[in-house]
Amino acid sequence: MTNDAYTLASEAAAALRSATGLDTFDVALVMGSGWVPAADAIGETVSEVPFTGLPGFRAPAVAGHGGKIRVVRTPEGRHALVFLGRTHLYEGLGVDAVVHGVRTAAAAGVRTLVLTNAAGGLRPETQNVGDPVLISDHINLTGANPITGTTFIDLTEVYSRRLRALIHEIDPSLAEGVYVAFRGPTYETPAEIRMLRTLGGDMVGMSTVLEAIAAREAGLEVLGVSLVTNPGAGLSGEPLNHEEVLEVGRATAARMGVLLSKAVDRL
Ligand code: HPA
Repeated sequence: MTNDAYTLASEAAAALRSATGLDTFDVALVMGSGWVPAADAIGETVSEVPFTGLPGFRAPAVAGHGGKIRVVRTPEGRHALVFLGRTHLYEGLGVDAVVHGVRTAAAAGVRTLVLTNAAGGLRPETQNVGDPVLISDHINLTGANPITGTTFIDLTEVYSRRLRALIHEIDPSLAEGVYVAFRGPTYETPAEIRMLRTLGGDMVGMSTVLEAIAAREAGLEVLGVSLVTNPGAGLSGEPLNHEEVLEVGRATAARMGVLLSKAVDRL
């Protein structure tokens, strides 16, 4: 990681402050594929800043991935940065671009980060379409890492135990699982899914892990939630497509919205 990427994030945070008239923000939420419809439930929209108006951000290339930061006032009066869209490693813009939003949020004063994603389910025995699963840990198979240099970062608790316990108070029935990330954009082969099950994965996707690492480097407390859009992933025998992932998001938006809105005021 070069200093330039951190400088760019500070510049983006300054631009965000001046665009919104707010000095600091309490929490940031990154809305993954299928999660954008749930964003409306988090609170009252104070302002929206398109990615294209902020240093270092690009409009997302993928349908359903949004492309702006919404500033939301929660019922308790907290200010949340809601990222409607994220950059993925498979877009080829590099790892700094993938974590730029997280670094910007940290530079803007955020201490708590909620990362959401759509994922294939590696445990179809217990997972159903539309189940939210709390991420307890991850396996990073992207081949990338947002940190360069000789500072060793502890990752024994990437996804905060404290935050997971708070979410379990809201919904005791939520399962926890290990999220495995590949670079994408290909979905996994059946052999890869069998491998991931053996490795101890519970969900598979193409995001989240690099952002979580960058967040830990910045000292943020991280909560991760996957929405299982296709249980069995590449083993189900059903070809996968992105439109189905978005459809599951629309169908579960109300439930995910309630979960997130209850969560943001307690984190
Ligand atoms: N694999 C990878 N990413 C995904 C999947 C999947 O099965 N479903 C939603 N995102």
